[in-house]
Amino acid sequence: MKKLIEAAIAVTKNSYSPYSKYPVGAAVLMKDGTIITGVNVENASFGLTNCAERTALFAAVSQGYKKEDIVAMSIAAGEKEIGAPCGACRQVINELVPKKASLYLTNLHGKHFESTIEELLPFSFGPEDLNV
Ligand code: THU
Repeated sequence: MKKLIEAAIAVTKNSYSPYSKYPVGAAVLMKDGTIITGVNVENASFGLTNCAERTALFAAVSQGYKKEDIVAMSIAAGEKEIGAPCGACRQVINELVPKKASLYLTNLHGKHFESTIEELLPFSFGPEDLNV
């Protein structure tokens, strides 16, 4: 898991965040060992910003991976405090990542803790509610 956390931290160098100056990186580990990363990509029209978590997960889906292929995910943000995933990203993680997959939330220096989407988004609305 050290490698996954390091990948999330390392990819923050690619963050496009000229407005917030708050780089975020995400890394998703697949059963086949592949790690897919993503960063936050901002826009002068602020509302069009895409968070790192969604960038990484949408890339994984685009490359053909399914929910059951995901083992763990790491999200890196924050110089000091560990950055928390936003509500929109929690909803997307709930949709695309297995409920019990480990989520390693880390700051940019490797201080981290482990959680799950069940913990971060209790009483969630998701695919089960639509019988999927
Ligand atoms: N951000 C993420 O990439 N993920 C989150 O879960 C929280 C927020 C980004 C969006 C924006 O580029 C910057 O952090 C500040 O909000």
